[in-house]
Amino acid sequence: MSEATASKDNGTEPMIEIQQLNKWYGDFHVLRDIDLTVKRGERIVICGPSGSGKSTLIRCINHLEAHQQGDILVGGVHMTQDIKRIEQIRRQVGMVFQHFNLFPHLTVLENCCLAQVWVQRQPRREAEKSAMKYLERVQIADQAKKYPGQLSGGQQQRVAIARALCMRPEVMLFDEPTSALDPEMIKEVLDVMVELAHEGMTMLCVTHEMGFAKTVADRVIFMDQGQIIEQAPPETFFNNPQSERTQLFLSQILGH
Ligand SMILES: Nc1ncnc2c1ncn2[C@@H]1O[C@H](COP(=O)(O)OP(=O)(O)OP(=O)(O)O)[C@@H](O)[C@H]1O
Ligand SMILES: [Mg+2]
Repeated sequence: MSEATASKDNGTEPMIEIQQLNKWYGDFHVLRDIDLTVKRGERIVICGPSGSGKSTLIRCINHLEAHQQGDILVGGVHMTQDIKRIEQIRRQVGMVFQHFNLFPHLTVLENCCLAQVWVQRQPRREAEKSAMKYLERVQIADQAKKYPGQLSGGQQQRVAIARALCMRPEVMLFDEPTSALDPEMIKEVLDVMVELAHEGMTMLCVTHEMGFAKTVADRVIFMDQGQIIEQAPPETFFNNPQSERTQLFLSQILGH
């Protein structure tokens, strides 16, 4: 049995449980009755048209966005407005954004150490040691002394992944991590993500990289207008989509 499969079946509570989640921006009902359970070690790809609520959904999971109705549990911790709970949840969750969000005035190494030192209160030497370990893992240790502006987009995104991993998250959220990259850099970032998936990391990835979805996803979720319209293992999802909206979406993104 592979490590990934083993970690999926360890009999503990789901990594993420979302029940009847509803969210509004003012009058606009952005998430509608979302139910989603993610097991430990599970890899989920979320796709759907622009504005369908994909980013909002994953941002609710670490409370970058507040929701108004429904329940979110991460690692068994029930999300409330209580800052201690939110911090408890954020400690378990790493996030990678489309635009990297690295601090431009800090070196790659400092970017990776910052939260370890200030949030986890680790001694700087220890923080640097684990930063170098994760930078090596994303094959960018040789750039540790550079500033983000001196790196390519693909390299910056790999730094952002290493920075998230330094916090030893239980789950990683990716919001279109490759969509701001030039085509030749997409692969180097996807390779790192595939490796993470094979190591058994629980992952929720908003992406339209359907090759990635086919290779590593346990489940593909299609969202439209704030709802989960359809979810299935990739083979079923791509070969036999049930709803007309999914069919139309797939024909548009796979058609060129
Ligand atoms: N802070 C905000 N205030 C008001 N409306 C917002 C806010 N953020 C997002 N929205 C709206 O909520 C809807 C969902 O946005 P969201 O960013 O979650 O979509 P998405 O599926 O991630 O789209 P994309 O593929 O373009 O990234 C959109 O109609 C968007 O305009
Ligand atoms: Mg988005």
